[in-house]
Amino acid sequence: MWFTVILGGIVSLLLLVVWFLTRNYGKLNNCGFPVIPPFLIFGSGPFNLHKTNLVKLDSERAQKYGKVFGSYIISSPWVFVSDPDIIKQITIKDFDHFPAHQGTFNDQKYRDLFSADGAEWKELRKNMSPVFTSGKLKAMLSLIDDALDNMVNYLNKEVKKNPVVDMRPLLQAFTMDSIGLTAFGVNLNCFENQDNPIFKAAKDAFGEFRATDFYSAMMLNMELGMVGLEKYFDATTPGVRALWTYSQKILTDRESSGSKNGDFIDRLLEMKATVTKQGIITEDQIAAQGMVFFLAGFETTAHSMGALCYLLSKNPEAYDILEAEIDGLSSDTFDHDTIGELPYLEACIKEAMRLIPAVGRNDRKCTKDWEYNGIKIKKGTFVGLMNYVIHHNPEYWPEPELFKPERFLKENSGNIKPCSYLSFGSGPRACIGERFAIMEMKIAMAKLLQNFHLEATDQTKMKFNDGDVFQCSYEDVILKLVPRN
Ligand code: HEM
Repeated sequence: MWFTVILGGIVSLLLLVVWFLTRNYGKLNNCGFPVIPPFLIFGSGPFNLHKTNLVKLDSERAQKYGKVFGSYIISSPWVFVSDPDIIKQITIKDFDHFPAHQGTFNDQKYRDLFSADGAEWKELRKNMSPVFTSGKLKAMLSLIDDALDNMVNYLNKEVKKNPVVDMRPLLQAFTMDSIGLTAFGVNLNCFENQDNPIFKAAKDAFGEFRATDFYSAMMLNMELGMVGLEKYFDATTPGVRALWTYSQKILTDRESSGSKNGDFIDRLLEMKATVTKQGIITEDQIAAQGMVFFLAGFETTAHSMGALCYLLSKNPEAYDILEAEIDGLSSDTFDHDTIGELPYLEACIKEAMRLIPAVGRNDRKCTKDWEYNGIKIKKGTFVGLMNYVIHHNPEYWPEPELFKPERFLKENSGNIKPCSYLSFGSGPRACIGERFAIMEMKIAMAKLLQNFHLEATDQTKMKFNDGDVFQCSYEDVILKLVPRN
């Protein structure tokens, strides 16, 4: 008797699990695109994310199934898109059907501008946008000098010992110092303090978005693929919690000191005093908006500069043009105004970000049924925006594998199809820090290239990591640095 009851219970539980995992299968049928069929309860795969190069997978699948195809990540229906016209429709024209990203944090205090949704997102975006106007950017970027000095002083010392260096950790240290100074008014000097806990937490937070073994692959699959269960799991990771705590401490210290620095923290304190009164944004949530600088602006910027260093070392013709432009700069100091004089540098940065985008795959959540040119996307479906695939499609970028910065010069900008360049996203949810990041990278690259010539060695390569769900992260950028006098 008991045996039958227990067996019945186990079978019912198993059936419930199977129903839960497969309940969305079929949702993508007859929607106007091919679908990669799910296997049993596991979705369309791949399950072993830690051994999968997502950029390669997206490219192969787009080749096989076309610019729009469906797939199930465990139980979640996803539609993957690499057609600029459809992406324009989704991210701009029909934004109200796709207003948010796929993932979020359950605990409101961690919800930053990137992960917030609905009224919360609108309120945050409205209040944070004024921080990124020209005048405010100018003031913030004037604080960057110490980060540039930290970088050049360190490199001058290191290069005497060994001129062959891995640029990746150095650019991470620069970006971190730059965020410290411009956003938080502190000089972290991560070159000399590699163990700085904020630096470590930021690197950890990014590592946590990548599957490196079977366990982390399972966790990532669950996050992307268990619709309906996410509210019962805490998606915050130790790195994210640590960054929030640092951000909160910096805010509290500044508030009690009563001083003003002209940086991002001043603005957040103003927001704390005003915006939270309406009851949409909480006081704790203000610290998350400091955290977003670390989460959204750290690895992306370091990554993009590393990609450019790599590409310059492999493309001497473009590098000569760039070096001549930097050497012809009218002033020795790099600031908001002088940096505007470097159009070829800006084109090189954008071309590096096209070839090796920091965000190789982006996403949206469909919150209202949608139809466009025979393609239907139902409420509750996620959309994968295949940035890397579009950036490498010869239809939009002739000779896509070649590094050709001219594509981005003003006189050629008319040749770029809208939404075929997605390094900073598009529409109302596009990157709020784009102009800040471009200026920061221009200043840093100009200073670096003015002081050193970068040469490829036989160790120089660009090898993407497996298991990275949205970044085209890579192992290292090993280059020889020759001082220029
Ligand atoms: C090279 C550096 C950077 C790259 C490649 C980059 C890329 C991106 C991309 C692809 C998105 C998603 C856009 C979309 O979904 O349409 C995004 C969003 C965002 N980025 Fe950046 N980003 C960079 C630097 C920064 C910096 C320095 C900040 C500093 C605050 C920042 C803050 C944000 C925020 C807050 C969002 C979410 C915006 C929203 O949802 O309203 N990013 N970024």
